[in-house]
Amino acid sequence: MQLRTIDLRSDTVTRPDAAMRAAMADAEVGDDVLDRDPTMAALEERVASMLGYDAALWVPSGSMSNVIALMLHLRRGDAFLAPDHAHVLGSELGTAAWLAQGMPRPLPHDGGPGRPSATAIRDAAGAPGPYFTLNTTLLCLENTHNFAGGTVFGVAEWNELLGAAREKGLLVHLDGARVWNAAASLGVAPGELTRGADTVSVCLSKGLGAPVGSVLVSDSDRITEARRVRKMLGGGVRQGGVLAAAGLLALDNVDSLASDHATARLLADGLRERGWTVAEPETNIVLADGPLGVEELARLGVAAVSVVGKVRFVTHRDVSETDVREVLARM
Ligand SMILES: Cc1ncc(COP(=O)(O)O)c(C=O)c1O
Repeated sequence: MQLRTIDLRSDTVTRPDAAMRAAMADAEVGDDVLDRDPTMAALEERVASMLGYDAALWVPSGSMSNVIALMLHLRRGDAFLAPDHAHVLGSELGTAAWLAQGMPRPLPHDGGPGRPSATAIRDAAGAPGPYFTLNTTLLCLENTHNFAGGTVFGVAEWNELLGAAREKGLLVHLDGARVWNAAASLGVAPGELTRGADTVSVCLSKGLGAPVGSVLVSDSDRITEARRVRKMLGGGVRQGGVLAAAGLLALDNVDSLASDHATARLLADGLRERGWTVAEPETNIVLADGPLGVEELARLGVAAVSVVGKVRFVTHRDVSETDVREVLARM
């Protein structure tokens, strides 16, 4: 008998629910490349205000959002800092370097899993050198940090890292693809974890359940320029309100992320009982070392991926507590 696959590869596999599909069908639309789409404009305004910024820009993906931010910030001859295994370093095909022109400099996770210490930032930024050396001009942080296992840092640490960057004259970009999860885990408003950067990218198409879309926030001048860069990359869309309508509903799902975190903890406990080594999940990502690899799991109808030499399971709104118990039972 063919087992039903329980898909824990990523929270990006969530499908739009009936309410989202209905909102998409009913969306008020315009031509966003010519003179703005009203539903996209409403989404951008709402995200900017939630995150404490003046302006925002919808983009098709988190990768495009990050590269637009880096293209705004970097010039040839610049270097940028990011925690080791950050998405901008290893999972965007090097666009930070070849498209945004920044030399990547990975930082250690010496401040805790997924983040550098303030000292590491100060040390790596260094002091201006002779004319033939790179100018380190930008710090990129990631909250939650995907490949460290969905790890979170809080408001005090965010402000400390931001402070270290500013002391060294660095610009700051936050890859907040899952900052919603960080906020839900800490019980703070998302804006508490995003305020004070130059640019922040957030995703609607991960745990929040939209089928597509990310949002870049910044000041109005940068967002005006970001709109031009998005067009250069072919990311301007026409009746985008159909997509933004799903994004607006997705924003109502921030509070329900806590239940994904609970199923992640349930999974982690069950894996430990079955002999796996698992760090306690801080959000919806479980990184584990154990007796089964992803191929063996696939034979059990459990889809997971391999990252940084471990098996990564991600819980999301399309897997229930019952599904997680079923995964454990199959193991
Ligand atoms: C931390 C982080 N940043 C950016 C992205 C890129 O998002 P997208 O897949 O929409 O390009 C991802 C995707 O998983 C991610 O985990």
